[in-house]
This record gives sequence, C-alpha cells and structure tokens, in this order.
Amino acid sequence: MAILPIYTYGDAVLKKVAKPIKKVDDKIQKLIDDMFETMAQANGIGLAAPQVGVSIRLMVVDVSCVKECKHIPPMVIINPQILETKGEVLMEEGCLSIPGVREEVWRPEIIKLKYRDRDFKERIEEFDGLVSRVIQHELDHLNGELFVEKLDSKTRRELKEELEAIKRGEAEAAYVLAEK
Ligand code: NI
Repeated sequence: MAILPIYTYGDAVLKKVAKPIKKVDDKIQKLIDDMFETMAQANGIGLAAPQVGVSIRLMVVDVSCVKECKHIPPMVIINPQILETKGEVLMEEGCLSIPGVREEVWRPEIIKLKYRDRDFKERIEEFDGLVSRVIQHELDHLNGELFVEKLDSKTRRELKEELEAIKRGEAEAAYVLAEK
C-alpha cells in the first residue's frame, strides 16, 4: 500500500465531474487500498478519488474512529446515486483538500443511496447521521464541488484569504499534499 498525495483547493482535478466506473480491476483494487491508507494517515473519515488525482466515481468512508460510529464498518462506494432524501440538518464539515477550514453546512439528514460496493455488487441502503453527511460531502467531490461553495456569501468572503493561500500552495497539513 502507498500514501498518496492529496490535491487541494484550486487544483483542476477537484473541479471535474468524475467518470463512472465500469468494473473493479486490479488497478482500482490497489487504488482503494491506497485511499484507505492515505485517509487513515490523514485522520480523515472520507476520501473521494479526485482528491488523490483520479477522476473516477469512487469514495472510501470510515467513521469507525468516531465513538458513536464504532459499529459502522469501513465502506467502499462506487458510482453512488442518491435516490431520496429526508429532513435537513446543520453540521460542521472539514475537508482534507481544504486544510484548516471547518464550517457548518446544511444538508439533507437521511439519504437513500444506490451504489456499488468493492465487489461491484449493487446495493441500496439508507444512511443517516455522520455517515450520511460524509457520503454527501464525498459525492460532491465526484461532481467537482467543494463544501465551501455551499456557504453563504458572508462566510465565503471571510474565508477568501485562507482559500487563496491554499490555492497558491501555502497550505500546511500533517499529511502529504500534492504539489501545486
Ligand atoms: Ni472533502
């Protein structure tokens, strides 16, 4: 396994709509292993393939480090599609691609998700709480969107300097960042 550098705010790969996966070959299996290792090393709970520079519809999620989510096993989510949502909730988010920035974001509370797992088996499952939140955040990455784009204009103005600095490659993180 290998630690992959994480692409940050301003990098073109984070703005692209990622491509659907047709089958899980050895290359993708290895990418999944590397993404889990990269996420764990960065203390992340979700990571989308575009964040490691690969524009395909794949994410890994592992919230088991959070006390109330200990029972939830790590997940591989391929070609996700939200079928239904319920409720709306405000929750703080951060992003490994935007080091140091954390803000509260409104999103649906419960999602019904169609996706394929690591064996490319189709699944339909309902998620709520933190897992629902992480999946929605990572799904945005697959559509070339970042959580800071969901913030109101005042908050975005306040973050402008910080985001510009990340864009220039001045971000610091306790994990490996891709070079600008
Ligand atoms: Ni993110």
